[in-house]
Amino acid sequence: MSAPKKLYIKTYGCQMNVYDSERMAEALGGQGYVETATPDDADMILLNTCHIREKAAEKVYSELGRFKGLKAERPDLKIGVAGCVAQAEGEEIMRRQPMVDLVVGPQSYHRLPELEAKARGGEKALDTDFPEEDKFEHLKGRAKARRGPTAFLTVQEGCDKFCAFCVVPYTRGAEVSRPVARVVTEARDLVERGVREITLLGQNVNAYHGEGPQGGDWTLAQLIRELAEIDELKRIRFTTSHPNDMEDDLIAAHGDCEKLMPYLHLPVQSGSDFILKRMNRSHTAESYIRLIERIRAARPDILLSGDFIVGFPEETEAHFQETMALIETVGYGSAFSFKYSTRPGTPAAERAQVDPAEADDRLQRLQALITRQQRAAQDAMVGREVGVLFEKAGRNPGQMVGKSDHLHAVHVTTDKVSVGDLARVRITASGPNSLAGELV
Ligand code: SAH
Ligand code: SF4
Ligand code: F3S
Repeated sequence: MSAPKKLYIKTYGCQMNVYDSERMAEALGGQGYVETATPDDADMILLNTCHIREKAAEKVYSELGRFKGLKAERPDLKIGVAGCVAQAEGEEIMRRQPMVDLVVGPQSYHRLPELEAKARGGEKALDTDFPEEDKFEHLKGRAKARRGPTAFLTVQEGCDKFCAFCVVPYTRGAEVSRPVARVVTEARDLVERGVREITLLGQNVNAYHGEGPQGGDWTLAQLIRELAEIDELKRIRFTTSHPNDMEDDLIAAHGDCEKLMPYLHLPVQSGSDFILKRMNRSHTAESYIRLIERIRAARPDILLSGDFIVGFPEETEAHFQETMALIETVGYGSAFSFKYSTRPGTPAAERAQVDPAEADDRLQRLQALITRQQRAAQDAMVGREVGVLFEKAGRNPGQMVGKSDHLHAVHVTTDKVSVGDLARVRITASGPNSLAGELV
């Protein structure tokens, strides 16, 4: 048997890319590749890229530039670009960076073995189709190796919402849900290999409508309840959700499905109805706040997280203040916030842009408010008892680190738990980015 070839994958962007990178490594595993942690000894380098903001997309080209020397030293080294930049700019990547051998979009990476063979044969290989066949079905089962206690599982892909700023509907294509039976099979397999917590992924995961076992589509809430039947699966999370798809049965599940964790990422983007309309979000600030009230009625201690864009075209200081007011009303446990980035081909790209210095200033003010809320939510955990799933040893001797039900990092000094254990912990202190506690 020949020595295995080495594959170096670098992942950018969202959790769906993290999941895809694992699956791409598995697809190439069949071609005799094993993963390596550095590009220096790799036979193939794969960049799994993100196109969401200009900075993310430009990173790809600077990263590729860094591989020039390696490629000159070892002409056999193959360089591939996958993910959303590959989808959006495939041909251009090949033109701008002739050293790229292979380009594969997020919906066609099950074809990597053929593409790799083509590249090995000295040809350029490009596939950015949205094929009819289900890529997940064409991937062999996941390798049977043991793995850590948490895993991502993609159940839905693509987006039909077309927010005016966003490239995802173009890079990932239309909304598609995987059938229930396949998701359950993959979840069981993960659990057999040591996984205790699964985060269900989708660009619009709560719009999930996968084919049920007896035909007829199931909702995300039905899928979650089915997965909750797997004994050794202790925790379920899902991300990312759109406010308009937050149906009653999913809200109810947050109240009565014990394995569904009290944490919800529900982006609103802006607190101004004028801006929301211009963003094509099809909800208002008020409807979002009412929705949060219903969710909190079902699960009072749920921690909320969100995404915000500042400096969207035509956003005034008054519009921005409406966003700040919404944040004050909701009270977030954490949030991601971004300065608007113009994306070619999206409707908002054509509009009058906000002064970048003004946008920077708004971003700083918004982030300061979010940081205060994040800290307050953490401090409020002190004295409470929470579940913690331990993920690794801490930096200090005798310390273990895990995530609480509310997704806070928690440090505990103990010799009574191992990685993968779920234990009750009393929170004793709140630091800048994590909590400390003791076993109950
Ligand atoms: N499907 C998810 C979000 C995917 S993108 C959802 O709707 O929640 C993640 C976040 O990136 C978005 O929520 C938005 O806040 C941000 N984002 C997307 N496009 C952007 C752009 N052009 N400029 C700045 N931020 C953007
Ligand atoms: Fe982008 Fe909007 Fe779709 Fe989210 S819902 S992926 S922000 S278009
Ligand atoms: Fe980026 Fe594509 Fe995810 S653009 S955020 S990697 S869906």
